[in-house]
Amino acid sequence: MLSLCVALLVFYIATKPPPPKVSIKMAGIGEFGLGEGVDGSGVTTKILTCNCSINLIIDNKSKIFGLHIHPPTIQMRFGRLPFALSHGPKLYAAESGSSKFKLYVGTRNKPMYGAGRSMQDMLESGKGLPLVLRVSLHSSFMSFGALLSLNSTTKLNACLSFIEHMIKSIALRHTIAPA
Ligand SMILES: *[C@@H]1O[C@H](CO)[C@@H](O)[C@H](O)[C@H]1NC(C)=O
Ligand SMILES: *[C@@H]1O[C@H](CO)[C@@H](O)[C@H](O)[C@H]1NC(C)=O
Ligand SMILES: *[C@@H]1O[C@H](CO)[C@@H](O)[C@H](O)[C@H]1NC(C)=O
Repeated sequence: MLSLCVALLVFYIATKPPPPKVSIKMAGIGEFGLGEGVDGSGVTTKILTCNCSINLIIDNKSKIFGLHIHPPTIQMRFGRLPFALSHGPKLYAAESGSSKFKLYVGTRNKPMYGAGRSMQDMLESGKGLPLVLRVSLHSSFMSFGALLSLNSTTKLNACLSFIEHMIKSIALRHTIAPA
């Protein structure tokens, strides 16, 4: 038993995988609408609905270990204001080369208050919308069940400037009243 453990340990050290290479890319804007509406307490404000898709690209870089990705957290911010949060599914990167996963982040009928006004001004001025995407994920290389594991936590930031012509046609024309 002890020699088996030693053998496993030696094997593990010898094959210790390098940390995975992870990157994110904006894939598309499925939906985007900023309109006039009322919040739960009857205050008139800007209401946002959006849904963006993101490609998460992962290189497991290990010849032996599969890479488990625990459900990633995706946050979208407008300046410093977080306005959308979602959790992706559990993922497994076992392919050689890089694996690509599609994730979504969005919000429905979210009152934006003061920020909504600035968003609209930026869209109307044609400057685009500075948005920040934050993805944090926890990954483990695992082999022999979970007997040998190497965990790492990755935080990624991407700054996006939504190009206004892409969304101008769909933005600013909805009037959404939350239920
Ligand atoms: C990723 O892990 C699997 C083990 O499940 C391995 O077969 C594959 O070769 C690894 N990928 C790379 C790029 O080495
Ligand atoms: C965004 O779109 C995807 C795919 O259509 C869907 O699964 C997801 O629930 C949507 N998210 C929001 C917040 O609408
Ligand atoms: C790595 O993460 C897995 C799953 O969350 C856990 O079971 C395991 O104990 C962790 N290993 C280490 C060395 O932290």
